[in-house]
Amino acid sequence: MAGKILIIGACGQIGTELTLKLRDLYGNDQVVASDIREGSEELMSSGPFEAADATDATRIEALIDQYNISEVYLMAAMLSATAEKAPMKAWNLNMDSLFHILNFAKDKKIEKVFWPSSIAVFGPTTPKNDTPQTTIMEPSTVYGISKQTGERWCEYFHDKYGVDVRSLRYPGIISYKTLPGGGTTDYAIEIFHEALKNKAYTSFLAEDTGLPMMYMDDAIKATVDIMEAPSEKIKVRSSYNLSALSFTPKVLAEAIQKEIPEFKISYEPDFRQKIADSWPSSIDDSQARVDWQWKHDFDMQSLVKEMLAGVSEQLKTTK
Ligand code: SER
Repeated sequence: MAGKILIIGACGQIGTELTLKLRDLYGNDQVVASDIREGSEELMSSGPFEAADATDATRIEALIDQYNISEVYLMAAMLSATAEKAPMKAWNLNMDSLFHILNFAKDKKIEKVFWPSSIAVFGPTTPKNDTPQTTIMEPSTVYGISKQTGERWCEYFHDKYGVDVRSLRYPGIISYKTLPGGGTTDYAIEIFHEALKNKAYTSFLAEDTGLPMMYMDDAIKATVDIMEAPSEKIKVRSSYNLSALSFTPKVLAEAIQKEIPEFKISYEPDFRQKIADSWPSSIDDSQARVDWQWKHDFDMQSLVKEMLAGVSEQLKTTK
């Protein structure tokens, strides 16, 4: 790598674990974390951190110069449920931050960009099961509209200006180190905390709502793999479908009950049900599997075991 890595939005759910992984792989000083707020103790103490607003192009450019950055991972975004409450703010954050980075890459200030997309790019008219890579996309959420637009711009900057941008359509990502902020798939994380604390959880999605999901370690692996793949293997420059598991709240609750038999679940769907209903239940990611040999490791029961172990450990130390 010619220069260092900058992670924007490094203190979020995915950013935190991605930063730690990249520091492990490439060295602590090679990976600069930045976010509008400070992150976990582990993240803050393991390498450089710079406070920065992802929409502030001058500040981001100064960091690129200061640290001789060659790769940027742009993880800052407002997620689906929060974005519905502040549409213009979400649009501005999600789009402005992307345009700044794409333009820095176009001007050859940086060499490579990772930008996450989401299953939210799909909408109610998209085929729901085994959703193909290329299909009808009419997203009905602000978050989905911003991600779909972002995908179009990534492809445009690649085709027109040769920008090396790579992207994944993440499903719901399940993890315990850092909580997600305002997503529709967050129930699948809250459920573990409540199962351990109270042996009961009220889901904000209905029992039969199937959504694509993935354990964090697989999401990080996919991100590192797509960034390390030789450029000619990356045939899709909008964003790749990416998949591991697909389950409903009921099926997840049953898997938790295998480990905690007294756990009880009830259902009180709220505004997030409509968002979930507009998204696919399962995703066909065969193109990622063929193009750069993507493969997931975690199945349902191993995800449940890891989550219960990780969250219990956290509860012990916060008591
Ligand atoms: N997990 C995200 C959300 O629910 C989907 O990309 O908003």
